[in-house]
Amino acid sequence: MPIPAVNLKPCLEATEQEWRARLAAMFGRMQFILGAEVAALEQELASAFQTKCVVTVGNGTAALEIALRDAGVTRPAQEVWTTALTAPFTGVGIAAAGCRVRFADVDPETLLLDPVDLGNRAGKRTAAIVPVHLYGQPAPLAPFRALARSLGAVLVQDACQAHGATHMGKPLAAYGPYVCYSFYPTKNLGCLGDGGAISTNSAATGKRLLSRRDGGRRGGQIAYLPGINSRLDEMQACYLRAFLPKLGEWNAMRRRVASLYEDGLRDCPGVRLLRTSEESVRHLFVIRAARRGRLRDWLSSKGIGTGIHYPAPLHLMPAFGEAGLRRGDLPHAERAVRDILSLPVYPYLSDASVAEVIGRVREFYRR
Ligand SMILES: Cc1ncc(COP(=O)(O)O)c(C=O)c1O
Repeated sequence: MPIPAVNLKPCLEATEQEWRARLAAMFGRMQFILGAEVAALEQELASAFQTKCVVTVGNGTAALEIALRDAGVTRPAQEVWTTALTAPFTGVGIAAAGCRVRFADVDPETLLLDPVDLGNRAGKRTAAIVPVHLYGQPAPLAPFRALARSLGAVLVQDACQAHGATHMGKPLAAYGPYVCYSFYPTKNLGCLGDGGAISTNSAATGKRLLSRRDGGRRGGQIAYLPGINSRLDEMQACYLRAFLPKLGEWNAMRRRVASLYEDGLRDCPGVRLLRTSEESVRHLFVIRAARRGRLRDWLSSKGIGTGIHYPAPLHLMPAFGEAGLRRGDLPHAERAVRDILSLPVYPYLSDASVAEVIGRVREFYRR
């Protein structure tokens, strides 16, 4: 049986009754934008993420843009620092706010943005810091919060890969005013299209975000604040409300898969594991693999799908040339993209399938 890199089907099957009932009720109401499902979902997300408010938006990229706009970070003279190893959309969302994107290097053990490297690079033009909770693992938030405070900058978290994660026992929203999520279908909590959200512990911020995502309106046809049009639709909220009660269980399943991989690959020649914390929600399981291309082809020939997250660091992507960095400037991120490999991880992936992946990886390095 092939083992794809991602498989959404079992999650859809496990919740089918629930989402079908919600869709039927939605068609009964015939309201498709900003209705009862979105309002209820926002309450339920706030409770699940232990935060005062959650405001849903059109996608995770827009969540970052809106958060920065709300913080007044909208001018090219304002620098926003983030990691070079992330989805390009982190940089896209930051740039969309109108500010200047800057990149710092990663910690080679975790591949998370390194607060020491960032601290050495960031100066007084810094208006925001955007740590990314990459692969489901929260970035070290206490140092980033301290750094942001000392620079007079705002902390905007990219939690697009970390639904349900906590850091040092606290909800992510405890560390800063904006936590941004994506509900892209393959995320730990995903819908069946595009979707996103921002969580905040400030009721006043939440109120502004509600307006900013809806063209700056407050329910009528007057635009009060500079806003954009970025709304989650009712249909996606139906799926998300069906999936959300399962998030804890699904994250536990991901953690089980990850711990089986770690036990099975810890001593495998050619494989290096990342340093991860118990609090990671294991969005992706990434190894550092010698002869990665060959291993990938070998796994593919055995029916095993893999991914590379990501094949290039953002500072070397043509779209981010304005950051002014060259090859060699962020050596840890540049080295990582050459050997990282994402193995299959998702809820309901069987122990037998995980054992098959482990066996095939070991077989490759034995040959
Ligand atoms: C780390 C990270 N940031 C931002 C995004 C953007 O989210 P979206 O695709 O919902 O715009 C994603 C997902 O693609 C992501 O993985």
